[in-house]
Amino acid sequence: MASTVFHSPCACSAPSIKSLDGQNYVGLKPSANLRFKFSCVKTTVKARESQRLFIVRAGETHDGQIKKLGLSDAECEAAVVAGNAPEAPPVPPKPAAPAGTPVVPSLPLNRRPRRNRKSPALRASFQETDLSPANFVYPLFIHEGEEDTPIGAMPGCYRLGWRHGLVEEVAKARDVGVNSIVLFPKVPDALKTPTGDEAYNDNGLVPRTIRLLKDKYPDLVIYTDVALDPYSSDGHDGIVREDGVIMNDETVHQLCKQAVSQARAGADVVSPSDMMDGRVGAIRAALDAEGFHHVSIMSYTAKYASSFYGPFREALDSNPRFGDKKTYQMNPANYREALVEAREDESEGADILLVKPGLPYLDIIRLLRDKSPLPIAAYQVSGEYSMIKAGGVLKMIDEERVMMESLMCLRRAGADIILTYFALQAAKSLCGEKR
Ligand code: PBG
Repeated sequence: MASTVFHSPCACSAPSIKSLDGQNYVGLKPSANLRFKFSCVKTTVKARESQRLFIVRAGETHDGQIKKLGLSDAECEAAVVAGNAPEAPPVPPKPAAPAGTPVVPSLPLNRRPRRNRKSPALRASFQETDLSPANFVYPLFIHEGEEDTPIGAMPGCYRLGWRHGLVEEVAKARDVGVNSIVLFPKVPDALKTPTGDEAYNDNGLVPRTIRLLKDKYPDLVIYTDVALDPYSSDGHDGIVREDGVIMNDETVHQLCKQAVSQARAGADVVSPSDMMDGRVGAIRAALDAEGFHHVSIMSYTAKYASSFYGPFREALDSNPRFGDKKTYQMNPANYREALVEAREDESEGADILLVKPGLPYLDIIRLLRDKSPLPIAAYQVSGEYSMIKAGGVLKMIDEERVMMESLMCLRRAGADIILTYFALQAAKSLCGEKR
């Protein structure tokens, strides 16, 4: 049923309902009526508005008749004036403290912040940040096979068959309001080369998959990854010179072809994750030259050389064959350097700035949020996901709660959107679908 709502064009404006425990439910779970109404509404906005109005009024109990209960208003007032106020329950007695509680004078505080936290309703009123399926981008691994292959290091994640498993997973995500995905391909080894030319094969796995998805779900928002590593026989994001140097401008040339090929297939947002210098401007120019002015660029602005990417590299078999990525990805010890990257990306025309990884880098998310007017994305990467999953499986933490808290904290730090492998699970939870 929920699918009816989320597949309609108004999915993103689905009301979010705040429950007493402070969670936001987006997806109309509590209002079965509303869902039913939506399913039989014609397409106009007006019709939808009037349906909503109707529902609100139908929820009221008064139907124009005023019930007669006994005394008139004047008689009631007269009774009170005469000193005969009716009975009401007494103030409850002060709850007892356990025996042995010290008796102390009250602290002379004129501010007690706990007052605003004393009940679920008050806490819900004062909640500063919220979380909705519309904030999520769901990263999905795809491969050429027909079956879905589990990824050992990422429980619950699969390399999905691009024709079947992927399409089903996207449908499930859309059912709970997640309408944005980002694709990561597992490329056959035989197609990997030092220059990663398969990256711009118009009939390669990614462009083929985009065309299939757009055919089935024209309004799905498809983000793509722009980098050579899944296509490189060296497992690096760029072309490797014989002395091990990653060649910048030559790599950017390839990335432009890759981005244009993805745009041609129907990608909505191309996302360079390679960390070469100058790639955002070059990709913008290449897209525009081919008439793809409407295709956005989400730049991996501050992508750190992080060990949290381990499970992802296992998933795609994309570990660098030698060395590390420290000459292009950022040093985890650096903060100000993120601003250098952000300024470059902004001036080169990026539409969205991304910080990666997520939770260990909240300060960087906040920095970019404060210094840039552009939307900010956070990538909760594979290692972050796997740690929470592992802790949950071992019963060391409550997986569901830690998942929701980590996502909320990324939003609080300043992320507009979150790329997360938890997108489907978290959206289900937000919709009230407990598993
Ligand atoms: C590479 C890329 C990586 C991730 C996304 N794009 C890994 C890397 O830099 O080696 C990692 C995502 C994750 O760990 O979830 N272009």
